[in-house]
Amino acid sequence: MSQSTTEIPVVDLGDISSPRSEVRERAAAQIREGFGHFGLIYIRNHGVDMDRLESFYDAYLEFCAQPESEKQKMSTPSIWYQRGWTPPNTEKAVVAGGQPDFKECYFVTPEEPSEELQREYPELYAKNIWPEGAPEFKEHYIELSRQLQQVAAHLMRGSALALGLAPHTLEGAVDGGPHVTRALRYIPLTTDQVDTDIVWGEEHTDFNLVTILPGGRFLDPDGNRCDKPDPDAGLYLRTRPTAEHPRGRKIQGKTPAGCIVAQVGQQLEILTGGQFLATPHVVEAPNKAGYSRVAVAHFAHLHAHQHLFPLKPFQTEESTRGYGPRVLVGTYNLKTLVDIGLAPADALNRLGYTHYDRLGKMREEEDGK
Ligand SMILES: [Fe+2]
Repeated sequence: MSQSTTEIPVVDLGDISSPRSEVRERAAAQIREGFGHFGLIYIRNHGVDMDRLESFYDAYLEFCAQPESEKQKMSTPSIWYQRGWTPPNTEKAVVAGGQPDFKECYFVTPEEPSEELQREYPELYAKNIWPEGAPEFKEHYIELSRQLQQVAAHLMRGSALALGLAPHTLEGAVDGGPHVTRALRYIPLTTDQVDTDIVWGEEHTDFNLVTILPGGRFLDPDGNRCDKPDPDAGLYLRTRPTAEHPRGRKIQGKTPAGCIVAQVGQQLEILTGGQFLATPHVVEAPNKAGYSRVAVAHFAHLHAHQHLFPLKPFQTEESTRGYGPRVLVGTYNLKTLVDIGLAPADALNRLGYTHYDRLGKMREEEDGK
């Protein structure tokens, strides 16, 4: 069963850039422990405007309340749903148990991508799209997205400190990345779905560098904000396996007041050769029908041109074998979006040489066929 969460470190974001070396070292030690063992830390003094977050949830719920035909106008399968609305039952966890997908989402990016990157990766670096007549949705969402990205960048400075890397190693590598912020609405369970194996989000690891979770809101069956309807509902993480706990421990996330959450994604695990481990996590649904939840998750990515491979200090025989061969982040993301069902399987055909048919056509013409 789940364990206490009081052991998860709380990092003051300001400590990372404190002029006092002992304060910086304290933050570094907390990040090492949090990201190294739990794959997760709590952050205080984060600078995210929580009043704006609440206003954003009001605006997002208004968007979600529209008829599906309206929301479909903002759905973008052609860019693998990387912007705008994703309907329920679109995405699947890689280690999926085959249950329905219980969320509808809206994706935005905090930064206007460069034209060069838009041409090279039209899906990963797509421009934002916005619903008509919803200025508050746009204003709150883009500002939140930028604030969350700032937290991620700052935290990467702290992670470099924690890992003994040059201060800007990781912060510089996220600059210009295909970051996405995702607003989620977990849809209510029906009476016959309650107390089954159905969860709101199946256990998975995030494929980006680091994920920032500013906290969500539960809604009762009438759509009114409410307290958590079931103490066991919500986010659980799995700690790093040890000799004592070879499958890790399942721990319920209980964010201290005023804090937000940061968790390790696959890209950070790969760069560190497993020193920081991508956090397996699951979102348990409440044991009551009709309750829903809105939340935001910000996914900071490395720049698409960065290499995904253990950094020099973390290259061992085992990590080189376990995390090789070296790939570009843009290629890695493409492959993963196929794995989770957002991109079509034939997107993989873009990798490697794609002009073999040119010679075939010329030879057909030669033969007068
Ligand atoms: Fe996740």
